[in-house]
Amino acid sequence: MERAVRSKRRVNFAVPIVALFLALPPRAQNVSPRIRAADDGLALTPPMGWYPWNQFGQEPQNEKLIKEMVDALISSGMKKAGYLYVGPDEGICFYRNANGELSTNLDRYPSGLRGLGDYIHARGLKYALYTDAGTRTCSKAMPGTKDHEFEDMASFAEWRADYVKIDWSNTEGQDPAKTYAKLRDAQQAAGRPIVYSLCSWGVGEPWKWAAAVGNLWRTTGDICAPAKADWDMAMKNAAANEKLYEAAGPGHWNDPDMMIAGMDGLSENQNRSFFSVWCMMAAPLIAGNDLRNMAPSNIQILTNLEAIGINQDPLGIQGHILRREGKVEIWGGKRLFDGSEALLLFNRGATPAAVQVTWSDIGLAESDRLYVRNLWTHQTSGPQGGGMSVTVAPNDVSFLRICKTNSYPVPPIIVADSYLVSFRASGPVWREAQ
Ligand code: GLA
Repeated sequence: MERAVRSKRRVNFAVPIVALFLALPPRAQNVSPRIRAADDGLALTPPMGWYPWNQFGQEPQNEKLIKEMVDALISSGMKKAGYLYVGPDEGICFYRNANGELSTNLDRYPSGLRGLGDYIHARGLKYALYTDAGTRTCSKAMPGTKDHEFEDMASFAEWRADYVKIDWSNTEGQDPAKTYAKLRDAQQAAGRPIVYSLCSWGVGEPWKWAAAVGNLWRTTGDICAPAKADWDMAMKNAAANEKLYEAAGPGHWNDPDMMIAGMDGLSENQNRSFFSVWCMMAAPLIAGNDLRNMAPSNIQILTNLEAIGINQDPLGIQGHILRREGKVEIWGGKRLFDGSEALLLFNRGATPAAVQVTWSDIGLAESDRLYVRNLWTHQTSGPQGGGMSVTVAPNDVSFLRICKTNSYPVPPIIVADSYLVSFRASGPVWREAQ
């Protein structure tokens, strides 16, 4: 019998969340031992938000564009689904003045970078800014932080940034681990809690050391050139990123780059598949499309709370490819907080594919009688023992949650730190955090 997702109880979420994180087992045994210095309580689930680069590049990034995106984030329902961090990427927003300090480029940002931050905060969102660890940013249009780390991080704190992405252009002769550690020290000295996004495109293998420094780190090169969604490149980024699954966890995430879902050039199947893969990898969900004119199907995909619930699961486990069968990738390894398992069957071929999965394939007992929740059709089947057979449409996915019960306990999902979401038979329930 199929039943909708049901909330079992209404609770004060704060206590279970804290208890859950304290109870987490140590992970990532196969990567270098790390001191989790970045255990700062930030980004306990993968950051969600919007950044301009994939769609717009440097032009026409300005205050008007960012404010329009902020408004669209709200009116489209994306804010309610958890997309929080928003702000300019490399978009000539500041320069270095004669005193060596950063000053807003007032031609582009007439309210000042502090004013833009105020606009974003007034709408219950969080403010993201961009800079570079070298002498200049990639296009050389903006100053980098080299030799100005402490002053610049103080400026970001004064502008009330909540998230800073630090790029790796023009860093000849610099060591990534040392440079990013110095910037971490500078951020801490500035005294404002800021989600720290390292962007060395995998240079220096940050998955081996960056958990002690920041909250997320790029594992790959850029996913596309501005306004040119590139499916093959996205799949290459996913293939490189999934192998690094042991390095990810609450507060420290592998980042295969901002999303291309919703950009021109992708089919609905591709958008759905892309989003499922990013959710399964516990990747940061930073949208990169134009939010102002979204097709309804794009909104539906980007705000699918059942898929987002997998991405934002508080155990923070990154799923990975368990095996391939012909053109089908079988993704698992993502245990969820309630003992369910996420399972993604991704058919990369041009014809329908039948896939058999046994419960033991995904770490559950064959004798278990389990329910299968389809996260895109929102239907539940089962219970059934042993396993299942699924036919996956060409170039599409089956994204499933395999559960011991036909109703979820209330997932303690913090989709934003201002909202909590639970699922009920009648649909999602929104509650402002206390
Ligand atoms: C690098 C980053 C991109 C973007 C651009 C800006 O390429 O990887 O995400 O920030 O710089 O120039």
